[in-house]
Amino acid sequence: MTNNNYVRIFDTTLRDGEQSPGATMTSAEKLEVAHNLARLGVDVIEAGFPAASPDDLEAVRRIALEVGNQAGAESEAKIPVIAGLARANKSDIDKAWEAVQGAKHPRIHTFLATSAIHMKHKLKMDPEEVVQRVSEMVAYAKSLCDDVEFSPEDAGRSDPEFLYVVLGEAIKSGATTLNIPDTVGYTTPDEFYKLIKGIVENTPGMREGITVSVHCHDDLGMATANTLAGIRAGARQAEVTINGIGERAGNTSLEEVVMALKTRHPVFGLDTGIDTRQLSRISKLVSNYTGIVVQPNKAIVGSNAFAHEAGIHQDGMLKHQTTYEIMRPEDVGVNQTKLVLGKHSGRHALRARLAELGHSLDDVELDQAFARFKELADRKKFITDLDLEAVIADEFYKPRDVYLLNGLQVTCGTMGMPTATVRLRGPDGVVHTHAAMGTGPVDATYKAINAIVNAPCTLLEFNIHAITEGIDALGEVTVRIQGRNGHTTMDAQSEVEYPRVYGGHGADTDIIVASAKAYINALNKLIIAQTESREYAVNDFGVMLG
Ligand code: KIV
Ligand code: ZN
Repeated sequence: MTNNNYVRIFDTTLRDGEQSPGATMTSAEKLEVAHNLARLGVDVIEAGFPAASPDDLEAVRRIALEVGNQAGAESEAKIPVIAGLARANKSDIDKAWEAVQGAKHPRIHTFLATSAIHMKHKLKMDPEEVVQRVSEMVAYAKSLCDDVEFSPEDAGRSDPEFLYVVLGEAIKSGATTLNIPDTVGYTTPDEFYKLIKGIVENTPGMREGITVSVHCHDDLGMATANTLAGIRAGARQAEVTINGIGERAGNTSLEEVVMALKTRHPVFGLDTGIDTRQLSRISKLVSNYTGIVVQPNKAIVGSNAFAHEAGIHQDGMLKHQTTYEIMRPEDVGVNQTKLVLGKHSGRHALRARLAELGHSLDDVELDQAFARFKELADRKKFITDLDLEAVIADEFYKPRDVYLLNGLQVTCGTMGMPTATVRLRGPDGVVHTHAAMGTGPVDATYKAINAIVNAPCTLLEFNIHAITEGIDALGEVTVRIQGRNGHTTMDAQSEVEYPRVYGGHGADTDIIVASAKAYINALNKLIIAQTESREYAVNDFGVMLG
């Protein structure tokens, strides 16, 4: 087996993360995330589950072609592997291969459950049949692709002796990565350490060139601890997601594992290829795209992770930074510069600051960003990095504008019914105006938008927060909506079809404008996704999109 000091980071944000109900991204967003993952320095990008739908296959294919060949990589060695997930059957494996074969380094990742509970109730297969299927399907995947990964699903609850047999067969059939998932987040760090050590020591055929990988879920809050325990036991690939998004309580979070290995280097003696200064930015990107808000106290990327607010802590911090800080904020890309730019800053200053934050804009984009910046500077005295990030997210990290906010007027308060008049430019270029009353200004605004767009959906979540302190702060709104049009996707493991959920993001000093933008953003995604879907010749809204 591979036993060096390098831990490969296998990112599954676009598969296990995106596939979980409530985190749908459009194909353009997936591509943008994949580019950013490559820039971050991940070794493997699991780009999706191509058998889920033709859209999913197409999204993986584009990532394989575009990111899997040049990426943001500086050298050829850094071009990431692009993996596609497949259940252990020929049809899934063919689709995964069709999707990833355009990458310079393609990988097929196939899986089959090995726990007694899954074999009996889900697969309805005997252990002997499971061994046989693994052997045949890994060999089939190997006949197409040189790089094959195999996962015994629910390994955390599988009989270790049985795992040695199954994994030994997978090696014999050509798998070079053996990924050990704690699918339901059940094991403890001690147990997982023993499981991985046992696999490393007892699997027939284990040798140099075979990588043991770990893939943990966070149902009991032990995903990161289990992943690190598995790495200590000899695993040299960690399967993770940005912000820990994923099924139920989520997957192991990339930023936690990477920063634990870096911060406690003397304990682990292991390295990754991740540029940790990009962690904060990519965390925001994924949060904005999915609409899944990062909790303030989330390790590494939460907004409070580096805020030492309690008086006693602040006093200690001023005396010496290391009293309460085990990592420097700049190491994860949290820039604490307060005053960045002001009303009189010019285009050059804006371009330079954005470049320092990792955004290289072309001239047209810079014009767009500068116009937003000036507008904001008229309303807000000092513009910070956080404001700039929000403006960039608002302007650029959004779907195509099917509907665009063209004007908004709201009356609210204690005297009379809250009323909103909304003007939207539609895909046909026509400006539509509608007025509605509601229980509050947001309700009235959303009702007016609904009347124009007519895309049946349910608002699942609405979040608002101030980006910086001060009464002139930008308000940031994220929403999640679920279409009522039957647009679904299939989960690879449970094989359950569930409705897609779309996230939207908006930022403005006027929180009702931010709320409107976030909602329109999510509706645009819903419309685009439905139009992109090959299942629909014409979308439900009668809108012809270019
Ligand atoms: O959690 C799991 O078992 C998985 C496998 C498909 C690797 O996601
Ligand atoms: Zn998983």
